[in-house]
Amino acid sequence: MDIAITDKEFNLFREIIYNETGINLKEHKKPLLVSRLTRRLMELGINSFSEYYRMVVTDKGELVRLLDRVSTNLTEFFREARHFDFLRGGFLDELKERAKSTGQKKIRIWSAACSTGEEPYSIAISLLEGLGRDSSWDIKILASDICTEALEAAECAVYTEDRLQKVPRCLWSTYFLRGRYGCTGKYRVKGFVREMLVFRRFNLKERTWPIRGGFDAIFIRNVLIYFDRPTQDEIVGKLLRYLNNGGYLFLGHSETMLGKRDGLRMIVPSVYRRSSE
Ligand SMILES: C[S@@+](CC[C@H](N)C(=O)[O-])C[C@H]1O[C@@H](n2cnc3c(N)ncnc32)[C@H](O)[C@@H]1O
Repeated sequence: MDIAITDKEFNLFREIIYNETGINLKEHKKPLLVSRLTRRLMELGINSFSEYYRMVVTDKGELVRLLDRVSTNLTEFFREARHFDFLRGGFLDELKERAKSTGQKKIRIWSAACSTGEEPYSIAISLLEGLGRDSSWDIKILASDICTEALEAAECAVYTEDRLQKVPRCLWSTYFLRGRYGCTGKYRVKGFVREMLVFRRFNLKERTWPIRGGFDAIFIRNVLIYFDRPTQDEIVGKLLRYLNNGGYLFLGHSETMLGKRDGLRMIVPSVYRRSSE
């Protein structure tokens, strides 16, 4: 059974969540917030949201746990498949051309709301497939998210068989280890793919992120929808500073209008190229 929340308490949580993450919880999300937090209150043995709120504002660790609980981590392998077709095709063709003229065989990609890892692993697999598993390329994928629980799952890289349904069958044995004995029905992304990823907890709402930039592509998909328009514009603007000239910004299909701004040109639906001017 859920613990009751007053309007005042809901507004306090709404405000702290907005200020910390940019997530804009609408009034109709009240039952969702209550059901996600009730379990935490019960774990802590407290029965009022006011008491939990006091805990959250005085204990940074509890704030992180609150944010873990409110984030929506829905994702899947090869979600919005056309993005991965583009990555394997047009994107890699350009990088191969660049490599011919500069000798530079380096690819840097950022999955900026990576959730439980399906997105950055899909990026890695697409690149490996597109390059014919040519190991002379230096590929690194930064995978970041605000949710510590999702990041732990991403780093662990173990998925149940039903989570692999969008991965073409012919790729399973190349990229996944099949669990045996106590792990039947589970699959782990193989080490050579996991090694391509670096995980970090980043909050998109922060003013800057402790990284240098120079990305050939940034995936920021299905997260901006949770923010209000000024926050969305601010985040996209900041991300562009980390993208190479000529680099690509991948947005979720329902977020495509956020790419309509100076300095970006749509290449395929919801994929934008940073112009080199
Ligand atoms: C719906 S998932 C999208 C996952 C993946 N990009 C995809 O398209 O399948 C949204 C992710 O955004 C993360 N998120 C929400 N607010 C964030 C913030 N302020 N900073 C970083 N990540 C955030 C959530 O934790 C969640 O994992």
